[in-house]
Amino acid sequence: MRIAVLGAAGQLGRDLCPRLPGDVIALTRADIDLSQPASIATALATARPDVLVNCAAYNFVDKAETEPEAAFAVNAWGVRALAQACATAKIRLVHFSTDYVFGLDATRSTPRTENDPPGPVSVYGLSKLAGEYLTLSTASNALVIRTCGLYGVHGSGGKGGNFVETMLRVAGQGKPLRVVADQFCTPSYTVDVAETAIGLIRAGASGLFQVTNAGSTTWHDFAAEIFRLAKLQADLAPITSAQFGAAARRPPYSVLSNAKLASVGVTAPRAWQEALAAYLVERAASRK
Ligand SMILES: NC(=O)c1ccc[n+]([C@@H]2O[C@H](COP(=O)([O-])OP(=O)(O)OC[C@H]3O[C@@H](n4cnc5c(N)ncnc54)[C@H](OP(=O)(O)O)[C@@H]3O)[C@@H](O)[C@H]2O)c1
Repeated sequence: MRIAVLGAAGQLGRDLCPRLPGDVIALTRADIDLSQPASIATALATARPDVLVNCAAYNFVDKAETEPEAAFAVNAWGVRALAQACATAKIRLVHFSTDYVFGLDATRSTPRTENDPPGPVSVYGLSKLAGEYLTLSTASNALVIRTCGLYGVHGSGGKGGNFVETMLRVAGQGKPLRVVADQFCTPSYTVDVAETAIGLIRAGASGLFQVTNAGSTTWHDFAAEIFRLAKLQADLAPITSAQFGAAARRPPYSVLSNAKLASVGVTAPRAWQEALAAYLVERAASRK
């Protein structure tokens, strides 16, 4: 099997590529720029994959509020062009989406399933929801995987690292950290998301699935666990989303249920605390 990965240089793509079976073709923006769909057909004709995994996305959640066209160009219209090209060339498309497709139902406090109606509260979330619909309606056997709060040792280039690294860096500088304590989600390790995604590909799954580590927490409590595991004293205090004042709204509760994975015989990822501990070990090893 030949599997191409677009967004291969991103934090999820870099943990996915070395774990995939068969021949893996790593594609970056230089091969396919989703905002320039004309590049897609030629690149796919050259790569000739059986499966295309799209890890690429416009991920600037706050910036998207003031440049919705840029977010939609990549996350919606670029993804639609990718799905059309895959349908034409009979390539199975696997696409990643986000917990930020939720948020409108602010009273929710139980894990959201694939059957729950989405309702984004940001331009980014809306663009990613459009990408889900366009993928599933264009490429009939496509697989869409929603995930949440990613961190991996390679970091997100565009965002300059990840939440764990930011916390460790700022705490290491002795600076105070005020972290939001009213958004509940599940931070997820890219290695675990990559391995579960591979399980779904091997199982021949199609349609919508959710993949995160197990459990839930707030960004504040996640930070506290990072410092506990790293044995670091930090000046950490909780604040509200309103006090933080980000440009884009975030879902107050976007914990995703992993239960559907069992229906195709795929094991759900471990608890987020265990995954974080494993990340800190891998991070330390990668710096030796
Ligand atoms: N990060 C999270 O917390 C999170 C949470 C939930 C869901 N997700 C989803 O998970 C997936 C992977 O996210 P990630 O954290 O691995 O993202 P990432 O580290 O930011 O990587 C995204 C990749 O997409 C590429 N890209 C951006 N615009 C592109 C374009 N126009 N054409 C082609 N490639 C382009 C980037 O390339 P350049 O380096 O050239 O810009 C980068 O390599 C995405 O679908 C994202 O929406 C992420």
